[in-house]
Amino acid sequence: MKILVTGASGQLGSTLNALKGQFPTIEWVFKSSSQLNVTQPQSVTAAWENDSFDYCINCAAYTNADGADAEPEKAYDINVTGAKNLAMACAKNNSVLIHISTDFVFDGFINTPYKENDIARPIGFYGDTKFKGEQAVIKHWDKHFIIRTSWLYSGYGNNFMKTMLRLGQTKEEISVVYDQVGSPTHAHDLADFILQIVQQNSEAYGTYHYSNEGISSWYDFAKAIFELESASIIVHPITSEFYPTPAERPKYSVLDKSKTKNTFGIDIPHWTDSLKKELSEKTFAN
Ligand SMILES: NC(=O)c1ccc[n+]([C@@H]2O[C@H](COP(=O)([O-])OP(=O)(O)OC[C@H]3O[C@@H](n4cnc5c(N)ncnc54)[C@H](OP(=O)(O)O)[C@@H]3O)[C@@H](O)[C@H]2O)c1
Repeated sequence: MKILVTGASGQLGSTLNALKGQFPTIEWVFKSSSQLNVTQPQSVTAAWENDSFDYCINCAAYTNADGADAEPEKAYDINVTGAKNLAMACAKNNSVLIHISTDFVFDGFINTPYKENDIARPIGFYGDTKFKGEQAVIKHWDKHFIIRTSWLYSGYGNNFMKTMLRLGQTKEEISVVYDQVGSPTHAHDLADFILQIVQQNSEAYGTYHYSNEGISSWYDFAKAIFELESASIIVHPITSEFYPTPAERPKYSVLDKSKTKNTFGIDIPHWTDSLKKELSEKTFAN
């Protein structure tokens, strides 16, 4: 079993890399953006020139939701053209493509968890490019798993948990929005799910939702982090209008995981349990 991981130095790529020791029968090839640029067809096809892969896990993405409006071409290139290039290379070489997408494909105007076949209607450019990336994958290669996830955090890269840990050490009080609701997802749990798909050798190709169980606002998430860290910082709940961001965020982006759980027979940890585990172990903190 041989697996190619693109975008390997990002949060999810680094998490997979940290887990690879637990899967000695898998031969892993991790490629960072400088080693495999998904926007360049030659760079993508070169990865398969002297190699064959059973799976390609695409962790490469333009993930800065606020930056996407300012750099639309770059965001489109990475999230849409990059996804298409990988899907075409996977099709040519018969590698299963596991492509990661986002809750931001939904507008957040409903208040019940989104199912995979609910209408995607992104409200920002980042979400729009991620949705078009999904469509490119679907168009170019049947053997794909598209996994939509949300509010990813880990000890790697930049994420909300790490920002809160930093603020907890430097601020006495902060304000955090409570009117955006979703599910924090520990990158380790998402990586475990991806490896479940691989280990099951599943052919149930299609689109799936994966986030941790439970529902939280950013305020709840921040409070939980500080409580677990015994930080004395005061957290004020505010509405989004008092924390304007360049890109609008969905107000409600909880993902329904019934299809995922039924198809793969997995249990998904609750976000509070995974957060507790991450903060007690801080295994990947760097
Ligand atoms: N982070 C979240 O909260 C969140 C939420 C929902 C869904 N997701 C999705 O989950 C996936 C993984 O996210 P993440 O948090 O791990 O992202 P990340 O930490 O931002 O990592 C993305 C990686 O993509 C690489 N990359 C950028 N341009 C590239 C290119 N042209 N060719 C190859 N690689 C390129 C980056 O490399 P450089 O560092 O060298 O630029 C980086 O290592 C993404 O698909 C994202 O859309 C994330």
